Amino acid sequence: MNSSDVNFSRLQSQPKVPVEFFWPEKDVTPSEGDLDLPLVDLSGFLNGDEAETQLAAKAVREACMAHGTFLVINHGFKSGLAEKALERSSFFFGLSKNEKLKAARIPRNISGYTAGHSQRFSTNLPWNETFTLAFKKGPPQVVEELFTSRLGDQCQEIGQVFQEFCEATNRLNLELMELLGISMGLKDRTYFRRFFENGNAIFRCNYYPPCKQPDKALGVGPHNDPTAITVLLQDDVVGLEVFAGGKWQTIRPVPGALVVNVGDTFMALSNGIYKSWFHRAVVNMEKVRRSLVFFSCPREDKLIIPPPELVEGEEASRKYPDFTWKQLQKFTQSGYRVDNNTLQNFS
Ligand code: SIN
Ligand code: FE2
Repeated sequence: MNSSDVNFSRLQSQPKVPVEFFWPEKDVTPSEGDLDLPLVDLSGFLNGDEAETQLAAKAVREACMAHGTFLVINHGFKSGLAEKALERSSFFFGLSKNEKLKAARIPRNISGYTAGHSQRFSTNLPWNETFTLAFKKGPPQVVEELFTSRLGDQCQEIGQVFQEFCEATNRLNLELMELLGISMGLKDRTYFRRFFENGNAIFRCNYYPPCKQPDKALGVGPHNDPTAITVLLQDDVVGLEVFAGGKWQTIRPVPGALVVNVGDTFMALSNGIYKSWFHRAVVNMEKVRRSLVFFSCPREDKLIIPPPELVEGEEASRKYPDFTWKQLQKFTQSGYRVDNNTLQNFS
């Protein structure tokens, strides 16, 4: 099967899931309950209230040191934007297979549509459809143009909504970078914000169709995100899980909240003090599940070097070698999954 020809409408009508979608026992062990995550209210921080900012920073620090994930509310999105973006993703995935294939991802490209696709493997396939766009900062309308050029006028409005969603998430991401700097006690609290100011991002819509054997298949298998910070919007269907405290735990959807997560690149930038979240998406028999994910990345040629105070002191030393996002991206695009060990020996 190639990167986009899996037809889930057809597969769903069959009594069994093809074995290519089966995952090893250890990867499908069920969730052991809900993870108790801090719900960080960003309004005080966004309005410049120092006491509120310190409270938010403390909650962020604890969560990032434990497992790398927390929830934010009052994040500054225009009312209705998140719902509108989720709705438009449903419209896209509801198009006929032929329409969606017009936007099929070209091998070694980031942008485009995939179905049941896993980089270079033909087993352990994910039970999902995705649409991904490389979001480049700079002139506006980039997402919109990409969307329209592939899918024509019927999708122009979807492009506009995604453009607006990406811009809002990008602004939020830079605010979060500052909050992360404060949470790490940096002398220059804008260090991370400045580091990512001229960076790029990847935007992905995920669509998980119902699955007859959810105990065998996975929407997305266990992985860390190689990027810096992931901002994730999930709909109201349970499915996102993080490995924390030695077990799989559910990140239950909270209305109005976004899930914020540390990826490998930010883990390296924090000199390993903050953990990269190890997570997966499970599927269920009845309901479609959707998520919209915004992965921030540094500028391609920028060396990932932690701020000086995170590597100073008697005990401290650099946990990861220098690398650029370009190098790490090349590695992951060849189908490799990064883990702590590969990152420690990366060059
Ligand atoms: C992912 O990790 O790529 C997707 C997670 C989700 O759909 O919630
Ligand atoms: Fe992920």
